Amino acid sequence: MSQLFDSFKIKDLQIRNRITMPPMCMYSAAKDGLVNSWHLTHYETRAIGGTGLILIEATAVESRGRISDSDLGIWHDAQTKGLFQLTETVKKHGSKIGIQLAHAGRKCTAPDEDIIAPSPINFDENDDSYATPREMTKEDIKEVIRSYGKAAERALQCDFDIIEIHGAHGYLINEFLSPVTNKRKDEYGGNPENRVRLLKEITQEVKKVWPAEKPIMLRVTAKDYHPEGNNPEDVANLINMVKEEGIDIINVSSGGVIPAPVPSFEGYQIKFAEIIRILTGLPVLAGGKISSPSMANEIIQNERADLVYLGRELLRNPYWPLHASKYLNTEIDYWPDQYERSR
Ligand SMILES: Cc1cc2nc3c(=O)[nH]c(=O)nc-3n(C[C@H](O)[C@H](O)[C@H](O)COP(=O)(O)O)c2cc1C
Repeated sequence: MSQLFDSFKIKDLQIRNRITMPPMCMYSAAKDGLVNSWHLTHYETRAIGGTGLILIEATAVESRGRISDSDLGIWHDAQTKGLFQLTETVKKHGSKIGIQLAHAGRKCTAPDEDIIAPSPINFDENDDSYATPREMTKEDIKEVIRSYGKAAERALQCDFDIIEIHGAHGYLINEFLSPVTNKRKDEYGGNPENRVRLLKEITQEVKKVWPAEKPIMLRVTAKDYHPEGNNPEDVANLINMVKEEGIDIINVSSGGVIPAPVPSFEGYQIKFAEIIRILTGLPVLAGGKISSPSMANEIIQNERADLVYLGRELLRNPYWPLHASKYLNTEIDYWPDQYERSR
């Protein structure tokens, strides 16, 4: 009997199975950052396909926090209408839905923006898309923290089930966490306590408005792939310094801090997730190049992770959970009635 289709509860959030769609930028919004028909169709299809939890793409908390000028945004009240429509659309098919609150920091490539980072180091001198960032002042730090709080308030109005704080892939929070990108001399740089301070203050701000019964997820880069960078044990240590502020579950990823390819293979990040799960005692969401139902099930059944994510596989095949349930001989009660004859 497979366990991939067992439900999972965290705080008041009950997820129908262990299958998660991780955040994936669609670069399909206009400059206003508004949800459009692409987003509605894209996410609804994965909900019909049986995905348990859908984490929507990096959604910028400030316009200067966009990765590109076609990102979704939550920096303005006008953006809540479309996001609310999105949560309603997904939920009517039984999926739960979360939003990834993001700030690109030095990896913002949107034109005419104020590019900020902990330290004035360019992400990639050989790529014109990246500008050398301005070192953030204390006022900038306060502003970013406030923007996260406002974004969380809007996410609540939009009826999201879970917030994911984007602390991975070399974007702003990760730039503070990594010793490769954070060379500050003040209380936001240097030792791990200082490097985790921004994340801690953002989490505290989010918690002021996000209800206690709703979970908060943190996405981390478990490995920088740089000799002076973070490794899973370092990241677990950072998480332990902040988890009491209200982090309930960790989404484990890797890379993105430096412009180097990540050595990847099927399940390449599962070991990192296992280490973080053991060292922090928190539940984890793990993934990376997973496409086989038996592999996804093995990760859950051997308690290497609590949830699994499939990114590119769900782009190729939005009905993957339906296929997987057949492959693993597991009956599910959310096969769409309209597709009953395909069961
Ligand atoms: C098109 C695309 C867009 C992505 N955008 C995001 C994003 O917005 N936020 C994020 O944390 N990761 C992003 N990722 C990374 C995925 O969430 C995931 O970690 C990665 O694709 C590895 O999982 P996979 O091998 O199952 O695809 C993106 C990946 C893809 C393919």
